[in-house]
Amino acid sequence: MKNALLVTAHPYVESFNFALRTQAIELLHMLDWQVNTSDLYQQGFNPILSPADFPNIPTSVPLSLPKQQEVAHQHALFSNDINSEQSKLLAADLVILQFPLWWGSYPAILKGWIERVLSHGYGYGSNNLLSGKSILLSVTTGGANNEEELEHYQTKIDQLGVDVFAYAKMKVLKAIINHGPSHSNEQQRQTLLERSKQQLVSMVNA
Ligand SMILES: Cc1cc2nc3c(=O)[nH]c(=O)nc-3n(C[C@H](O)[C@H](O)[C@H](O)COP(=O)(O)O)c2cc1C
Repeated sequence: MKNALLVTAHPYVESFNFALRTQAIELLHMLDWQVNTSDLYQQGFNPILSPADFPNIPTSVPLSLPKQQEVAHQHALFSNDINSEQSKLLAADLVILQFPLWWGSYPAILKGWIERVLSHGYGYGSNNLLSGKSILLSVTTGGANNEEELEHYQTKIDQLGVDVFAYAKMKVLKAIINHGPSHSNEQQRQTLLERSKQQLVSMVNA
């Protein structure tokens, strides 16, 4: 049985982002995948990388966050919230990040998840423990007005994935992008959902 981790960064469970999340979980279950979830706002995930990530690290370790992350991984010194996220990632064949585009990028809570969880000596550096896993960015935007803008968003968002996750030697899939759900009516949202479902089906069957 294949395993997916679905990470969602949206404060409202009533949002279109959560509709996409729920649909992806149902679909993957139907296709016989095991699904783990991380709902970052709902679990109160702390996005701030700091020394509190490794409260018991020896004072002899240099005050360098990458070095401290590496030692924390080697000696199991990470805080519980990081351990939990890293374990879910290790179990996953496919990671889906579900989020709205905010200022052209990841919402801060998700950026912080990346900074804290994809740590040096675990995700990159001396170990690439996520190497070969697939990663899919499923993103909503404020809206695109024409072909040129559609293409601009696709290139930009695919690059967001590559910048982080190709560095961790993950396989970055073409992003699924839904434009302007907040000014779409119910019928238009259903059409967007259906199209996203077909895109996800073709990716997991590829
Ligand atoms: C802080 C903030 C920044 C945003 N920045 C962008 C942006 O850079 N580009 C864009 O297309 N939409 C931007 N938006 C619009 C959101 O992407 C849009 O509201 C969201 O994708 C709609 O999905 P939802 O209804 O599930 O929240 C921004 C919204 C907020 C709140």
